[in-house]
Amino acid sequence: MSFSITRVSHVEIRVTNLDRAWEFYVGLLGLVETERDGGRIYLRGLEERQHHSIVLKQAESPGVAHFSYRVSDPEDLDRLTEFFKAKKLPVVRLPAGSEKGQGEAIRVQDPLGFPVEFYHEMDEAERMLQQFHLHRGVSPMRLDHVNCQTPDVQKGYDYYVGELGFWVSEYTETDDGKLWAVWMHRKQNVHDIALMTGTGPRLHHFAVWVQDMVGVIRACDILAGAGMTDNIERGPGRHGLSNAFFVYVRDPDGNRMEIYTSDYMIPDPDWKPIRWSINDKRRQTFWGHVAPRSWFDEASLVESITDGRLLTPIPAELKDRPDFVT
Ligand SMILES: [Fe+2]
Repeated sequence: MSFSITRVSHVEIRVTNLDRAWEFYVGLLGLVETERDGGRIYLRGLEERQHHSIVLKQAESPGVAHFSYRVSDPEDLDRLTEFFKAKKLPVVRLPAGSEKGQGEAIRVQDPLGFPVEFYHEMDEAERMLQQFHLHRGVSPMRLDHVNCQTPDVQKGYDYYVGELGFWVSEYTETDDGKLWAVWMHRKQNVHDIALMTGTGPRLHHFAVWVQDMVGVIRACDILAGAGMTDNIERGPGRHGLSNAFFVYVRDPDGNRMEIYTSDYMIPDPDWKPIRWSINDKRRQTFWGHVAPRSWFDEASLVESITDGRLLTPIPAELKDRPDFVT
């Protein structure tokens, strides 16, 4: 069966106070509001021409409602529906417009338990890239990737690479050859999705791309200036994996966003994935800094696609992790 995913497109985040979340994502960080309808606010980055890449959804608790991939052909949705039905996974079809600005879509509780959507059409929105006089905050350009925790990264690799047609850019392995984490892509940079060993299914973070390192520093200055130093969780720093410059921030509900730049392109299909040893501490922060414990322990629960309840994640075995701060 053939279908073609172009990229990760958007993520729907649960927030408990829409006004407070708007102030964080739009007022402070500078994402652009496309529109709102009752319980949701639809946001996009400055270079994006699509209706939304981040949706804020009013909910009783934090978490993630779904994340979504764009496919290159409307008929891919039929092929994917058959593919998931054959795997006996829960899959639902959404008529055009059931998500604001979006055409027909399907949602599946994927083999790892994540609520994942596929769609082809979305309303076009004005690209703000050269409206420089309107750029604010950290000037987020686009959604770059999602990072998911799962107890079984090998299973995720088999699904994404073996069945969905993703390519691997980099990966982390234990000394005995167990796949610990993997960075996979359809667009031509380091990743659309990363999988890390951990309690899951949980969304560890989503990332927005900024144009340069100054954008990352500016995020720290802005949050500190607003008295929100507790929302700066890790960094700024440079990753070994992906080479990207980063800072991890937590929104007012604790959902984690990475502000990310300076990774690299992978235009060639015969790219040889880069292997990192789990014992090389430069892989997480190239300069050797250790991530805080919250970064390992805490992540966002994800919804069931059928009833919207948050799924109870399965714990991963953590005691042998050399990178785990105790
Ligand atoms: Fe969607």
